[in-house]
Amino acid sequence: MTAPGTLVVLADEAALTRAVADHFVETAQAALAERGRFDVALSGGSTPKAVYALLATAARDALAWSRVRFFFGDERCVPPDDPESNYKTAEDGLLRPLGIDPAHVFRMRGEDDPAAAARAYADLLRDELGAEPAFDLVLLGMGPDGHTASLFPGADPLTGDAELVRAPWVEKFSTYRITLTPRVINASRSIAIAAGGAGKAPVLRDVREGPYDPTLHPIQIVDPRDGELFWFVDAAAASELAQ
Ligand code: 6PG
Repeated sequence: MTAPGTLVVLADEAALTRAVADHFVETAQAALAERGRFDVALSGGSTPKAVYALLATAARDALAWSRVRFFFGDERCVPPDDPESNYKTAEDGLLRPLGIDPAHVFRMRGEDDPAAAARAYADLLRDELGAEPAFDLVLLGMGPDGHTASLFPGADPLTGDAELVRAPWVEKFSTYRITLTPRVINASRSIAIAAGGAGKAPVLRDVREGPYDPTLHPIQIVDPRDGELFWFVDAAAASELAQ
């Protein structure tokens, strides 16, 4: 199978970080020029931390940050000040350093009952983005098991796709998560997947060149309906790709 989207292979982690930050800025500048605003869903995990640091410094003057609204692709079921919180990672590395108005930050309430938090976030998305929410950019990572956002192997990622947000039980971590569904992710005008390091090489090969099985590799469900998809990877992660 040849996976959808454009594969961009960068020399190393630093180049990967720069490429993702550049894509963020370019996508934001285009959206601000076209529509006067930029709605982005941030990813979790550790890969974004270096991108946030670069955006908060080198890109500080690159765009009208006051016109950017920040949402989240997924969240752990923890309070917002917990080190595990994707919101805290963004708050510490990007939002506070850039002085983003908290009214422009829409976090998933990981401290609440998961199902209730998922319903509340779906309502928020409808209020802020309309009945079929479409982001200008969704940033995603990829786990070594082929998960993305909090769509983990073992469950058909399209299950519950009538919803905008859901709260799956994640056996691997014995916890609930809150996540956008593929319906929302694939409505985005642009999707950027960022994956680096040799640890991601086997799954990147399987995902991009192996059979299509999104129950096994949920990230294979990522295929924007009308938007663009970029895979930003470094040479180490791409080292097992045949092409
Ligand atoms: C999360 C993320 C998750 C992450 C991948 C990759 O909440 O953990 O949303 O989907 O993007 O696990 O994480 P790394 O970038 O840290 O490898």
